Amino acid sequence: MFATDKLQDAKYTVLAETLPRNRTLRDGCEARIPVEAIDGEELMANGIGTKFALKVVVVTGGTSGIGEACAREFAAEGAEVYALGLNAKASPLSANPSVRVVEMDVTDDKALSNFFAGLNRVDYMVPAAGISVADKEHEPDIFDKVMAVNLTAVMRCCTLGRAKMTGGAIVLIASMYSTFGSSQRPAYAASKGAIVQLTKSLAQSYASAGIRVNAVAPGWIDTPLLAPLKADEQVSEIILGRTPLARFGDPSELAKAIMFLCSNDASFITGATLPVDGGYLTV
Ligand SMILES: NC(=O)c1ccc[n+]([C@@H]2O[C@H](COP(=O)([O-])OP(=O)(O)OC[C@H]3O[C@@H](n4cnc5c(N)ncnc54)[C@H](O)[C@@H]3O)[C@@H](O)[C@H]2O)c1
Repeated sequence: MFATDKLQDAKYTVLAETLPRNRTLRDGCEARIPVEAIDGEELMANGIGTKFALKVVVVTGGTSGIGEACAREFAAEGAEVYALGLNAKASPLSANPSVRVVEMDVTDDKALSNFFAGLNRVDYMVPAAGISVADKEHEPDIFDKVMAVNLTAVMRCCTLGRAKMTGGAIVLIASMYSTFGSSQRPAYAASKGAIVQLTKSLAQSYASAGIRVNAVAPGWIDTPLLAPLKADEQVSEIILGRTPLARFGDPSELAKAIMFLCSNDASFITGATLPVDGGYLTV
């Protein structure tokens, strides 16, 4: 059972049309979230944790890889998750009643603005959508496209999401290429370097509103983005040979780190970039 079915004595309101899929309001009730009426035991009996019970989480790039894992893990802890991205119909999350999968090109400013306008509040945000186009990023159009998705759209999401937040946290996705340059991927490396600085800047800007802003810097994580490199045995060997933990990371390991940064356990952490890379950057 989903907790929004309990609709008496609520303190917080949401727009009915923004309720996640399969969650309806009882006849005659206003659209409300009964935060004080959460029955933890009932949620747990249904296999749902309560760490993020009824928190509203927006994840971009939520249709694949790290973003998808985030959406799933937040939902498994009771959150109401909006997973934005391309190829929404193909996402396995479409079957998850705690996640609303939204087809969205994050560089479509109007669509993004409309989406956020429809939300009553946001508690946590993970703008994870990202692309890289190996060997083509020296071309002006491709360079601009990568920067638009990986940096400009992240800033836009933060600005739009911030307007709906009265606390909570944002976690951006950096990379090992925030540290290294890349002759093959100059736009990707530039955008991810900028994400670290954006994290610090937004941490300062949003602190007075009680919003913490951090980033994770994933190492080599087993997602579709990594598939071409993973498929190359020689490249895989070099990567794993340099990674102290000697394996690729699982997207769920990123999700757990992101959830830590969102949780109260990280209440004095803001402006930080946390490597989640099996030790790759130590070598
Ligand atoms: N996989 C890794 O090893 C790794 C390492 C470091 C950083 N990252 C970063 O993690 C994030 C997620 O990457 P991933 O590995 O899960 O990749 P992925 O390819 O599995 O997922 C990328 C997601 O971004 C979405 N996306 C791409 N362009 C979009 C657009 N214009 N509008 C909306 N959504 C768009 C896709 O639909 C997808 O949901 C990216 O920012 C990436 O740079 C990944």
